Amino acid sequence: MLNSLWLETAYPRTAYPPATMDTTCDICIIGGGLSGITTAYLLAKAGKKVVLLEKDRILEGASGNTTGKLTTQHDLVYAGLLKKFGEDSARLYYKTNDAAIRFAQSISEGDELRTANSVLFAQTDSGVHSLRNEAAVYEQLGIPFDRRLNFELPLPVKETLTLTNQAQLHPVRFGQHLAKLAQSEGVQLCEHSAVRSMNLKDKSLQLSNGIVIQFDELVLCTHYPIEALRGMNIMKLEVNRSYLISAPADMPLQGQYLSVDGPKRSVRTAYIDGRPHFLLSGETHRAGSTSDTTIHYNRLSDELQSIYHLGEPIHTWAAQDPSTPDLIPYAGPISKSMPYVHICTGFRKWGMSNSLAAAHIVSDQITGRKNPGIPLYAPDRTGFGTRLFQAIKTTGFVLNEFTGGHITRAKAPICTHMGCRTRWNTGDETWDCPCHGSRFRKDGSVLEGPATRPLDLND
Ligand code: FES
Repeated sequence: MLNSLWLETAYPRTAYPPATMDTTCDICIIGGGLSGITTAYLLAKAGKKVVLLEKDRILEGASGNTTGKLTTQHDLVYAGLLKKFGEDSARLYYKTNDAAIRFAQSISEGDELRTANSVLFAQTDSGVHSLRNEAAVYEQLGIPFDRRLNFELPLPVKETLTLTNQAQLHPVRFGQHLAKLAQSEGVQLCEHSAVRSMNLKDKSLQLSNGIVIQFDELVLCTHYPIEALRGMNIMKLEVNRSYLISAPADMPLQGQYLSVDGPKRSVRTAYIDGRPHFLLSGETHRAGSTSDTTIHYNRLSDELQSIYHLGEPIHTWAAQDPSTPDLIPYAGPISKSMPYVHICTGFRKWGMSNSLAAAHIVSDQITGRKNPGIPLYAPDRTGFGTRLFQAIKTTGFVLNEFTGGHITRAKAPICTHMGCRTRWNTGDETWDCPCHGSRFRKDGSVLEGPATRPLDLND
């Protein structure tokens, strides 16, 4: 079963009270991950009255299950961005994410953030070719880098590409610190406050306990932007899943590493309460596309022992994150027709820097501050925002908890989001949906959205 190193070493766990009184606010934020908490903090700091709603406990979703690498080196992304968007946009993506790292460094106080180099490494000729191509793009964009062979792992390596002055997070401790900052700025943080329905025309929403929140602006910081929209056909966000394991290690690494060849591997050390933990991750696949996930944990575990000479992993967990079709997340208003509903999603597994960047983009847009990243992250650049708006329009702007398509059950139960058949995940003991990445616990309760209702296991 999942036991994220981050969630198990973030104590005491948060205990923010649920919303129990009808409230009117300037901004209501749904989703208590890093993007939601950061947006709340920035907006409250700018003088807004902010309510943040989290259906479970904050930071227990994607933010609590990542590698915690806070870097602008998002794999071989810059060559792709240059090709798709041109030089100015590729450079802007770098600057936007670099600013996110500097923001995190500026607010961090304890051991939740550590400065470290990020290193891409190639082990094959084709990997070397890709790395050199990426380095040439760094040069063109003015991204400072180091090409000297800089490698601490016991693997054969041909070439490396290093970005200095990047960072590593304990993402849950960092998020908890941010939550405290947000609260001290006046944010009303509400855990165990699931949204039952939203009326976007009336600018109001109702929680499962009947409490009504009235807002001027709404920010959806959930995996899928509208988790409660019945029948909406958002197929443009692909959800991928990766596996992580960790074990105590005597030899702390100075850098954090990512292979450019397959199978992809990501490696770092986490220093928690003075003790180093070795983290190994990889084995990415489309969420819900496979049942036997123990294979992935076993492969990583074998490498941990045979290559790194460490013992059995103490912590094993998995992360999943949606990706947009064009490498850049969505952050901003759904569309011009609905400028008061904003989304933050599609971080493509680079959510540490991108969630902070998205939070700055959304909060700057709401407060009218200039931010050059606004058009780059605009949800409507791919037509996504317009489709989302049209889908919302067909519901009369009232979004109810999705009740689920009910299809004849053969083996696995039917996902309550839009009726796809789930698969049993043997490694994590969860029901996973291949369509949009919903995950359910063994007892059918929702572990991760977009689904909001439990599975019917008795059908
Ligand atoms: Fe959408 Fe299952 S049908 S997550």
